[in-house]
Amino acid sequence: MSSHNSYKRQTKRFISSKKLRVSVIGLGFVGLSIALVNSKKGFTTIGVDVNKEKIRNLKKGIPDFFEPGIENYLDYCLKSNLIKFTTNLEETLFNTDLTFVCVGTPPKNDGTIDLKYIKNAICDIHKILKSKKKYHLLIIKSTVFPQTTKDVVLPVFSDLLKKGLVDVVMNPEFLREGYAIKDILEPHLIVIGGNSKHGGQILEKYYRNFYGKLPEIIHCDPTTAELIKYANNAFLATKISFINSIANICQNLPGVDVNVISKAIGKDRRIGPLFLNAGPGFGGSCLPKDLSALINFSKRYDNTDMLFSAVEKVNKTQPIKVLNLIKKINLLKPSKTISVLGLAFKKDTDDIRAATSIEIVKKLIKNKLIVKVHDPKAMDNFKKIFGNKIIYCQTVDECIKNSDCCLILTEWDSYKKLSPQKFKKLMKKPNIIDARRILDPKKFSKLNLQAIGLGN
Ligand code: UGA
Repeated sequence: MSSHNSYKRQTKRFISSKKLRVSVIGLGFVGLSIALVNSKKGFTTIGVDVNKEKIRNLKKGIPDFFEPGIENYLDYCLKSNLIKFTTNLEETLFNTDLTFVCVGTPPKNDGTIDLKYIKNAICDIHKILKSKKKYHLLIIKSTVFPQTTKDVVLPVFSDLLKKGLVDVVMNPEFLREGYAIKDILEPHLIVIGGNSKHGGQILEKYYRNFYGKLPEIIHCDPTTAELIKYANNAFLATKISFINSIANICQNLPGVDVNVISKAIGKDRRIGPLFLNAGPGFGGSCLPKDLSALINFSKRYDNTDMLFSAVEKVNKTQPIKVLNLIKKINLLKPSKTISVLGLAFKKDTDDIRAATSIEIVKKLIKNKLIVKVHDPKAMDNFKKIFGNKIIYCQTVDECIKNSDCCLILTEWDSYKKLSPQKFKKLMKKPNIIDARRILDPKKFSKLNLQAIGLGN
């Protein structure tokens, strides 16, 4: 029997099996979310990670980050015995049919990304799959430079690829922090960048079982799939830097409000209403990292990259625009007390990676202000950077009490409900800087409200 025929038979059996057994390597935000949603959907799921402490905690139902719904999912899947967590990769690969590779690709100082985790993972996987001798589908979720799958991943598996014992599919992830579960359950698109038609077909079959009715799918080669991910995030970043640039103009024009402009241009279907909220600049573990990776990557081919660098430059300048608002009201001065509401890079997360709050608080400290901070979820992470250099407050009231200025940096829903009376009653003087545009300027007209994109 030729190995090709055996492969065809195995693949056929694989495709027709109702529920494929799933493993997820790398239990960060993306990996853990995928593993839990899979197991709750009824797929046998094993989550594997090299971090022993993480696995110990997950077995006890404790995730190492905050994400709405994740704790409940974890609790449910553990209690119902639907998921298994382990550090044993061999056992994992032998007992599952397809594996999502979700290891991190952290940024390096030169703007490129570090591939060491993905390289380690695929070498380990290769060794194990060689002895498994049964077909296995590898799905790369990690964000990697265009051509990484072709030049770094596929060569490692060349022997198994020839024998038809493995397929590799680049299947980028578009889920947002704060909406991980919803975005997995209701994706706007699935991109399947397979090395072969078979791998793509099997993954499509898996998604058919997962969703019942398939979401829209684009099949392409792995390199196109890799670039789709970067293009997607770069476009989102561009929209934000665009509206922040408009906001900076608005601020100089009395009576002009960027929110009205966003609403108006968002009605044009060619533009669309989303991602037009002006603010202190975009942060998080993805947009800044992917943008600088794309800048670095495009410079390999064209030294004249202008657009992506400009988008990045606008973003890096935006925290200074926030500080200028404090300067404008003469409060960027030693011994003034400033209350910072919101430290996370956006609401509904405890993530402070590349959050603008970090840059801004550093500058406030440098200018010798007394900095009091509050965040519903991100204070522990902030403490790891700032230690005892600032004052951490458990409540908003405690934070704004007796302060000269209040700066809103994250759009938490609880902050949206704050009343003008509260600021008036508790602050030394009710100077408010709304860098997220969550307060209604009309309601706050009797207080000194400065805001990004608000000309007054
Ligand atoms: C982003 C993308 O939105 C996801 O599609 C993608 O899957 C993810 O990166 C990733 O590559 O893994 P995320 O980092 O969770 O998701 O955050 P976003 O919701 O995109 O927000 C990024 C930053 O832009 C935040 O700081 C947010 O406050 C800011 N932002 C967003 C604005 O300043 N204005 C807006 O109108 C929208």
